Amino acid sequence: MNELAGKHIVLGLSGGVACYKAADLCRQLIKEGATVQVVMTEAAEQFITPVTLQALSGRTVYGSQWDAREPNNMPHINLSREADAILIAPCSADFIARLAQGRADDLLSLLCLARPAQRVPLLLAPAMNREMWAHPATQRNLAQVAQDGATVLAVGNGDQACGETGDGRMLEPLELLDELIAFFAPKVLAGQQVLVTAGPTFEAIDPVRGITNLSSGKMGFAIARAAREAGADVTLVAGPVHVPTPRGVRRLDVRSAEEMLAAVEQQIPQVSVFIATAAVADWRPAAASSQKIKKDGSGQTPVLEFVENPDILARVAQSARAQAGALFCVGFAAESHDLLAHATAKRARKGVPLLVGNIGPATFGQDDNALLLVDAQGHRELPHASKRVLARQLVGDIAARLQAQRG
Ligand code: C5P
Repeated sequence: MNELAGKHIVLGLSGGVACYKAADLCRQLIKEGATVQVVMTEAAEQFITPVTLQALSGRTVYGSQWDAREPNNMPHINLSREADAILIAPCSADFIARLAQGRADDLLSLLCLARPAQRVPLLLAPAMNREMWAHPATQRNLAQVAQDGATVLAVGNGDQACGETGDGRMLEPLELLDELIAFFAPKVLAGQQVLVTAGPTFEAIDPVRGITNLSSGKMGFAIARAAREAGADVTLVAGPVHVPTPRGVRRLDVRSAEEMLAAVEQQIPQVSVFIATAAVADWRPAAASSQKIKKDGSGQTPVLEFVENPDILARVAQSARAQAGALFCVGFAAESHDLLAHATAKRARKGVPLLVGNIGPATFGQDDNALLLVDAQGHRELPHASKRVLARQLVGDIAARLQAQRG
């Protein structure tokens, strides 16, 4: 999607087995539209050759502070000033120690020290053995570099090249890509606690059957991701869907509307924004059979009785905190026709300040959509785009409303 279009990234590699992942990371950055200048330490060159990274980045790799290619012979100045961000991946324990001390005896640490810190952010993707990671010296150095303004990314947990298992693995290239994209997003929801419901619910008839709604969960997951990128603390209550959890989002899986209600009610006291995108089943079988209902060959069909499910959004919107303006509620409406009329009526019925309409059958399972934002003043269209783009626009819109509320 060219999420990094126009961004120039200095990708720094220090010594570690995870250097092999940096080759893929370089490729992913370029695929998203970034230009990438690779800088390697001497140790990194023991793990992967500059040739590979030159081929992937399309630029010659820098390794020495004495590189005569630069007319002024100051690669540390030139490279750091061009960058929109410096990402060190992998960032070894030794390199973190160098940064903590402000060392400048090799090009990569030199350019980190020489960067204009207010303008050029420094992101670190640590990678090391679990004992090195847990060592007090490493943790002390990490705290120091964070205090000095670096953004220290998380580490993964799992099998390590040394044969041990634990914390300290470098994040995967796609995880690092997501972190970098999130880093550049404006933090318009910083300090907000956002709860999103997504996907359908499934209401059991018996142990093998049930009724459900058509909903892939993609729109709600995209909103959760955009809210997290915007700096919010995000919890996602998801019905049965097959969509990966966005990075940094807390996910609670539920199946039925009643389970979804219980999860929402448990979270809601801590929440400042509630976005209900879930396609909750309106009814559930009055009593689910504990055994499979058998076809007996008589041609007789079972008679199913239904009861209405709780309206999660309406309940939350009626709560004292929502009524007092401490909880901003957003509803969704999937309609097949007359979107504006239905969305307007639904907004009033649910008692929410903002209702987002979309044409359900046109968007179920798709990666794109078009939204209609309806509030007390009128409506605004977010024209056809990817769910990712629309989610960002919606998050921006909600942030502006919160800002206006605060005055
Ligand atoms: O009434 P309808 O299902 O069309 O309303 C849609 C909106 O209400 C969505 O935001 C949906 O998540 C929410 N909803 C809910 N609980 C229900 C039914 C709908 O939260 N039982």
